Amino acid sequence: MNINKVLTFLFFHFIFNFRITSAQICSNSFCRRTEPIIRFPFRLENLQPNSCGYPGFDLFCDAFNETLIDLPNSGTFTVQSIDYESQNIWLNDPDHCLPRRLLQLNLSTTPFNAYFYQDFTLFNCSAFDYARYRFDPIGCMSEENYTVLASSDETAIRLLESRCSLIAAVAVPAQLGFVEPVMTSDLAGDIRLTWGSPRCGRCEERRGRCGLRSVNGTEIECRNAARRGIPRFARYTIVIGIGLPGFLLGLGFLYLICIRVHNSSRQRHPVMEFSMAVVPHSTTTISGLDGSTIDSYPKTVLGESCRLSKPENNTCSICLSEYMPKETLRSIPECQHCFHAECIDEWLRLNPSCPVCRNSPKSSPS
Ligand SMILES: *[C@@H]1O[C@H](CO)[C@@H](O)[C@H](O)[C@H]1NC(C)=O
Ligand SMILES: *[C@@H]1O[C@H](CO)[C@@H](O)[C@H](O)[C@H]1NC(C)=O
Ligand SMILES: *[C@@H]1O[C@H](CO)[C@@H](O)[C@H](O)[C@H]1NC(C)=O
Ligand SMILES: *[C@@H]1O[C@H](CO)[C@@H](O)[C@H](O)[C@H]1NC(C)=O
Ligand SMILES: *[C@@H]1O[C@H](CO)[C@@H](O)[C@H](O)[C@H]1NC(C)=O
Repeated sequence: MNINKVLTFLFFHFIFNFRITSAQICSNSFCRRTEPIIRFPFRLENLQPNSCGYPGFDLFCDAFNETLIDLPNSGTFTVQSIDYESQNIWLNDPDHCLPRRLLQLNLSTTPFNAYFYQDFTLFNCSAFDYARYRFDPIGCMSEENYTVLASSDETAIRLLESRCSLIAAVAVPAQLGFVEPVMTSDLAGDIRLTWGSPRCGRCEERRGRCGLRSVNGTEIECRNAARRGIPRFARYTIVIGIGLPGFLLGLGFLYLICIRVHNSSRQRHPVMEFSMAVVPHSTTTISGLDGSTIDSYPKTVLGESCRLSKPENNTCSICLSEYMPKETLRSIPECQHCFHAECIDEWLRLNPSCPVCRNSPKSSPS
């Protein structure tokens, strides 16, 4: 083995990697100081290279330095706010008539989706005394001789059906998970959307810098994230500095012990050798559930809208990250608590009880 060759390889490997990484650094940007900060997966279309963003996440600035996004099939929206950790974006209409835009909203060709939808029905009322019923008109869609009203309350909808003409029923992305029927709304509030991919939320949480692994690819990586526990460099040092000599030392000890046991059992109990081989190991047992029991618990794949029965349930209590569309959840039948399947499976293999209520599914017959 030529040591010079190895060193040369390592040197060029280091230089090459360093060059690639530094070329990919994309700085934070914004349209105006008060506008949302723009960074991966978003990028400013005309100012930053393609590799600074993810397909479908291109933003641009308008003449008033407002941040805009073009959603295919749904048109241009203003970006009111972006939360990179929870992977949420809040949008509104640049022409200040969001309800008109909601009638044409179709997110199926975008990377975005809503966690929750609330169904509203819009009516066109010409001879209806809406003020008497305290309805809130949608001003931007109403004219001198007619008023447009929206409601998600069944009783109100029945009343409006009898007095007005139906415009359409629309699924409106809701701000919060828990949506009570609303008698009247002007539907002017920002809509909150989320994205499932790329998943940079956990990287952002750890103050890391999310980005594309290579210029042409779609694979992402998280750089400079604060690690829980020991930093990577220190871990390598520990592995090489302590682990390797420790491992060799351990092997030596094991060898000595083996020879001793072997010799002593031979000398004093000639039969032991055989019986020792048959007696099963009494290692400390992990008292979790077995794979088939865990697999028997119901699994569900979250729909596009991530509809869950209870609003406080949109976060997995094991890994503390929010559920994203298309993720697989598993619930414990005894208490109906829900978690990411991968999180709860790992948990149940070690602990036989629900991490939330401590109910033991093992003790009750399944
Ligand atoms: C937009 O930003 C540019 C450069 O930052 C500035 O020159 C311009 O005055 C801004 N326009 C408005 C309408 O704020
Ligand atoms: C949304 O657009 C897709 C593709 O263009 C289409 O298949 C789908 O029917 C549309 N959905 C609605 C609700 O219009
Ligand atoms: C409401 O109805 C009137 C006729 O009664 C019609 O001229 C108008 O375009 C309708 N408006 C909407 C938004 O449907
Ligand atoms: C509203 O109705 C009144 C009376 O029918 C009519 O004179 C007026 O032109 C209408 N206004 C519009 C904008 O259609
Ligand atoms: C990236 O794409 C460009 C143009 O399509 C191509 O020339 C280049 O070789 C690609 N680079 C890699 C690393 O695949």
